[in-house]
Amino acid sequence: MRRRFLQESRTHLELLGSEDYGEREAKPAQRKRGFEAPYGTLREPICHLEPRLSTSVPNANLKMILSKIDANLKKIRVRIAAAAGRADRNPESVTLVAVTKYAEPAWVQALFDLGHRDFGENRPQQLARRAGEFPSEIHWHLIGHLQRNKVGLVLPATTRIHSVDSLRLLKRIGESSLKAGATRSVLLEVNVSGEAAKDGLSPSELRELWPQFCEQSGVQIDGLMTMAPHTDDPESTRATFRGLRALRDQLAESSQGEQPLPELSMGMSGDFEVAIEEGATLIRVGSSLYEGLSPP
Ligand SMILES: Cc1ncc(COP(=O)(O)O)c(C=O)c1O
Repeated sequence: MRRRFLQESRTHLELLGSEDYGEREAKPAQRKRGFEAPYGTLREPICHLEPRLSTSVPNANLKMILSKIDANLKKIRVRIAAAAGRADRNPESVTLVAVTKYAEPAWVQALFDLGHRDFGENRPQQLARRAGEFPSEIHWHLIGHLQRNKVGLVLPATTRIHSVDSLRLLKRIGESSLKAGATRSVLLEVNVSGEAAKDGLSPSELRELWPQFCEQSGVQIDGLMTMAPHTDDPESTRATFRGLRALRDQLAESSQGEQPLPELSMGMSGDFEVAIEEGATLIRVGSSLYEGLSPP
């Protein structure tokens, strides 16, 4: 599968032509792993990786997918920069996690070809499968609910778990990570808005259990994550994002520098600008990336 991916990657880039994506010869190491792409760049060099073989997606469609996603990414980057500017922040302090829950494999591939490296999946099974199918340079973020019996499935494939919503789950992740000889980066999911249908710890529960969360070994608690209520008015999400940030500040302060919690994962297609203004360091964006595309 990885071999097919590399063949299709090359096809994507060739389709845009060397005027846009200038060619160069691959170094021997790159032939094995795929081309090296500097994080976040939208202009990628082409490498001669493998002989070109036919692909299941027609060339005209690949070209259309690549150029639509390229244009969408550029628009999102402009929006990120504007929001960061309003908050007097460096846009580079915000990582765009491309949510691939509903993305076709060719769309994921196009994002990779365009230099994107942070991808978010909601479903543990799909994350584990895709991590095996796509190049190992990808940082996979688990952003959806995780049952304890799926921890072993996702741990080897996941860079960061955003959705730790109980002490029992944190313990299981810690124990499994210790067995594997690694420490795992996690974020704690908080239901700031208090909606009954949402996963996540309540702020009061987290405050109360915080010392126990801090005691767990095998995990590095890097920050907090939340989802704002679904709304057509992005401004109305501000209180939720501000609440997460205030909670983070409070917990960090109470741990006296031991747990600085630098990451805030908040903001989706409809509200990421407000989230950035309120301090988001990771935004999880899906639908805006795929505007103009529909599954075959
Ligand atoms: C936890 C989470 N974050 C972010 C997203 C992306 O949302 P959107 O498509 O509105 O950008 C989703 C969508 O499935 C999600 O479940």
